[in-house]
Amino acid sequence: MGRKLRWNQSTLLFGGTALWGLVLVGCVMVERTVVAPPMVAGSTYVGSKKCAECHEDKTGHFAGSSHARLAIKDPKAGDISCEACHGAGSIHVKTGGAKGTIVNPGKSPEACFQCHLDKRAQFSLPSAHQVLNGKMSCADCHEVHSGNAIKGTGADLEAQNETCFKCHTEQKGPFVFEHGAMREGCTACHNPHGSVNQKMLLARDANLCLRCHLEASDPGSSGQINANAIHHVAENHNTRLMQGACWSAGCHEAPHGSNANFHFRY
Ligand code: HEC
Ligand code: HEC
Ligand code: HEC
Ligand code: HEC
Ligand code: HEC
Ligand code: HEC
Ligand code: HEC
Repeated sequence: MGRKLRWNQSTLLFGGTALWGLVLVGCVMVERTVVAPPMVAGSTYVGSKKCAECHEDKTGHFAGSSHARLAIKDPKAGDISCEACHGAGSIHVKTGGAKGTIVNPGKSPEACFQCHLDKRAQFSLPSAHQVLNGKMSCADCHEVHSGNAIKGTGADLEAQNETCFKCHTEQKGPFVFEHGAMREGCTACHNPHGSVNQKMLLARDANLCLRCHLEASDPGSSGQINANAIHHVAENHNTRLMQGACWSAGCHEAPHGSNANFHFRY
């Protein structure tokens, strides 16, 4: 998914320029899809150096950011990396920052979808954060002006969880009985962009848990999921799994951790 290039009117307007040629190359190399640049009617590109005159706080650390690696260039304006997300800035600069003269992707994710079109589809799934209706922004979880766009990357995954704890304090604990899975990050079980399963879960049933808790099947076996083989457990889980998922069958209803029971019950 996501390798096909989409063309519409605004892309065609720019299609012949070296600029979008470069963006396309950049995006194709990392298998992203380009739709259209964000547009500010009547504006032309001025280059990132111009932005620095008034927005030092944003340009100061930009060189080390994920998107600086793209180094998007325009034949006239040179480096226009800022404008790749914010749209052409000439009118904004001329008016000294008047309202409505520049795109703010914090208010709408459309600017991001130009290159990350697959994310629009993910956020349209039945269980997803409310980004498409503007109640939340990509920037609630992503860093766009400095460092890695995925917060906490490179450091331990618990740091990545901090992004989620800003809003989801209940899952933070501390718990008397902590679930080792939390050290792998929330994304071990959830897709924060959206899922067909409720609560943005990666799987709707026991498979969610069996990815980590199944013992390797014997060499030569069929490799089928066998609930008898749940890690460390002597008891046969097959009958329990008929009652529901591991967390809904009344057995491990506190999958994030528990203060009551080491089997993660309330
Ligand atoms: C001459 C000074 C000046 C220059 C140059 C300038 N800006 Fe601004 N910009 C402003 C002012 C003033 C504001 C309004 C600030 C406020 O409301 O706090 C602003 C606001 C913004 C906003 C927020 C708009 C909103 O609706 O929330 C963005 C995004 C922005 N600028 C991006 C840029 C980019 C990208 C460039 C380079 C193409 C740039 N600016 C160049 C002065 C400038
Ligand atoms: C990957 C896309 C992206 C790039 C590249 C980018 N920005 Fe932004 N910018 C955003 C998003 C998203 C927001 C809104 C969230 C926020 O404030 O962090 C934003 C907000 C802003 C604001 C308004 C901040 C405020 O406090 O209201 C300014 C000013 C700005 N950017 C300037 C720049 C400048 C200058 C550059 C180039 C060095 C740049 N941006 C590069 C995505 C981007
Ligand atoms: C002009 C195209 C373009 C736009 C616009 C754009 N991105 Fe990206 N983005 C990319 C490319 C290409 C990469 C891969 C960069 C790399 O791997 O070095 C990327 C990477 C990312 C990553 C992953 C970083 C990582 O370490 O793997 C995130 C998160 C991201 N972008 C979020 C956003 C958000 C949020 C916006 C809108 C505010 C946005 N992008 C706008 C092209 C774009
Ligand atoms: C609720 C938090 C959250 C929101 C909102 C969010 N992301 Fe992400 N995103 C993440 C996390 C966490 C990861 C790292 C996923 C991983 O490590 O498996 C990620 C990874 C990414 C990546 C790189 C890996 C991939 O899936 O391609 C891109 C690109 C990206 N996000 C773009 C976006 C865009 C664009 C938006 C807004 C339309 C957005 N994200 C909104 C949390 C979020
Ligand atoms: C800016 C605040 C914010 C951040 C940051 C945030 N969330 Fe959420 N999250 C929400 C809100 C609000 C809802 C409720 C959404 C709704 O009602 O549709 C929610 C709902 C959820 C749900 C449950 C959905 C349901 O159906 O009950 C999960 C799971 C979730 N978020 C995971 C995450 C993960 C994982 C992260 C970090 C990668 C994260 N969230 C970051 C605000 C946030
Ligand atoms: C071991 C897998 C797993 C991990 C890791 C995990 N979750 Fe969950 N999460 C679940 C399951 C299963 C549910 C559904 C519980 C239910 O429906 O009763 C859930 C539900 C949720 C909900 C909805 C409210 C609720 O409790 O039902 C939120 C919000 C949430 N998780 C956030 C997070 C955050 C934030 C992280 C990372 C700090 C995280 N989860 C890590 C498995 C996990
Ligand atoms: C990302 C991997 C991962 C996932 C997914 C995962 N777990 Fe775990 N789980 C662990 C780790 C690691 C431990 C700690 C194991 C240890 O200490 O030996 C653990 C421990 C447990 C324990 C305690 C077992 C004991 O004997 O102490 C239970 C119960 C448990 N998990 C249930 C679940 C359930 C239910 C799910 C699905 C909602 C799940 N796990 C998903 C990694 C995972």
